[in-house]
Amino acid sequence: MIKAFIFDLDGVIVDTAKYHFIAWNELAKQFGFEITVHQNEQLKGVSRVKSLDLILEWGNIHLDQAQKDLLLVQKNKTYLEFINTLSKSDILPGIVDVLNYLKSKKIAIALGSASKNAVPILEKLEIDALFDAIIDGNVVEKAKPNPEVFLKAADKLGVMPEYCVVIEDAKAGVEAANSAEMMSIGIGSKAVLNDANYVLEDTAKLSKNFIDTLLKN
Ligand code: BG6
Ligand code: MG
Repeated sequence: MIKAFIFDLDGVIVDTAKYHFIAWNELAKQFGFEITVHQNEQLKGVSRVKSLDLILEWGNIHLDQAQKDLLLVQKNKTYLEFINTLSKSDILPGIVDVLNYLKSKKIAIALGSASKNAVPILEKLEIDALFDAIIDGNVVEKAKPNPEVFLKAADKLGVMPEYCVVIEDAKAGVEAANSAEMMSIGIGSKAVLNDANYVLEDTAKLSKNFIDTLLKN
């Protein structure tokens, strides 16, 4: 019996994944290399700190903590320049309808994101009030694929993990949902998200019919 849906933010509710990619790439270019699309898949769902460590590893660059801290601030500054331009019109197709449909069915809704920018983004999109619980990078210690973010969301909603559905665009996020023993819906490529219970090409496929099928099972 499904009682709650937990949504990832970046790449599921809004296409900020492309802004993370641009901002990280600007940083990599300073060191003389670029991040490939394949490498970027490994950054999706992963915390800011862990993403930087991966990028520095790919570039074989060794920095001390103070230098890394400066880069983290710089990356977020670039990212926030994009985020400041966000509005309702940037919400991905079908998402507002799904959120409202779930509300009408009295299904609880949570956000489960690694981002520390999650709340201001939801506010810019004017959908923050639709969430019954928000678990983001400010309250999570262990990054996806660790299930902490989704388990905390379920706990805050007061719903057992097995009654939760997770919507994710990242491989690490699907793994986190599976480890939490929640149903996982991947948004994107089947080749990347092959561990998800269902994979939909894009958010527009999150139709009422699809939700009804899940709720009936
Ligand atoms: C995740 C994104 O949702 O949040 C990652 O998929 C990002 O790409 C991570 O690095 C942390 O986000 P932020 O906004 O705290 O830098
Ligand atoms: Mg994501």
